[in-house]
Amino acid sequence: MPKQISPSLDLFSEIARLKKEKNAVLLAHYYQEPDIQDIADFVGDSLELAKKAQNTQADLIVFAGVHFMAEGAKILNPTRKVVMPDLRAGCSLSDSCPPEAFAKFRKKHPGHFVVSYINCSAAIKAQSDVICTSSNAVKMVEHIPKDQGILFAPDRNLGAYVAEKTGRSMILWQGTCIVHETFSERKIAELRLKNPEAKLIAHPECEPSLLAKADFIGSTSALLKFVTDSSHQAFIVATEEGILHQMKKKNPEKLFIPAPPNHQCACNECPFMKLNTLEKVYLALRDETPELVIKEDLRLRALVPLQRMLEWS
Ligand code: 13P
Ligand code: SF4
Repeated sequence: MPKQISPSLDLFSEIARLKKEKNAVLLAHYYQEPDIQDIADFVGDSLELAKKAQNTQADLIVFAGVHFMAEGAKILNPTRKVVMPDLRAGCSLSDSCPPEAFAKFRKKHPGHFVVSYINCSAAIKAQSDVICTSSNAVKMVEHIPKDQGILFAPDRNLGAYVAEKTGRSMILWQGTCIVHETFSERKIAELRLKNPEAKLIAHPECEPSLLAKADFIGSTSALLKFVTDSSHQAFIVATEEGILHQMKKKNPEKLFIPAPPNHQCACNECPFMKLNTLEKVYLALRDETPELVIKEDLRLRALVPLQRMLEWS
């Protein structure tokens, strides 16, 4: 039976009270709903959130993001208790790369250095040589000797983008993100005609043909920094629409237009990220459940490439 919360409860003040009482920290990704971002102790991209989780002194980490992010927090900081508002918050990219199939893929390409995007499970991390995020993928690949063959997983769009940027040929796992594959280039072109001054900015998980037209490409944090530092006044934003909350907050005078999806749907919302609600954040904090647990031998194997990423960053 779903847990009941009194409608008269002030969730904002209760969450603030519980965080203090339990020495807890609430970490949130930019794709979380605005209320969660506003009550969080820290909002960031995957790399920033991993670093925060690694260095926190809090006893309890409430991770408002998706499973691989909370799992990363536990891998990096195992003595802390990590809970999620909804344990079912997964990721289509992560799901696209099952561990057994990935082991076969690696076997087919022996002697390759394995670079895995952080949007993958601990079981994939454990089979990787280094992890990257959207903000440091180019740097990670540039770190690898030029004559070394590379396998890149699971996002083929980020992989193609990094290959182009670095001039390296890489064998790509064919995974994609359901959100970043959804944008309609035809509708974006129409929007650009109506708003000729607007800059098109995109996350590198978008398809290569869209990225080729973008004025700026970057991680969620990099996109936010770009619009804040830019002298331009209007932007078409090709990533999950949650990031618009911080963009508008930091730049109330600027115009942000979410890149339209192909259909009349809310497909530019990540259905996994949006499983988390303020009510579930409150319950996770109050009841300290659902907890993220990981077997110690798997954690230790997944830690190696994550630590390498942090050393190379
Ligand atoms: P960032 O690391 O850029 O925040 O991306 C995370 C993500 O899941 C994008 O879909
Ligand atoms: Fe995964 Fe895409 Fe959602 Fe990011 S937006 S968490 S890559 S499904």
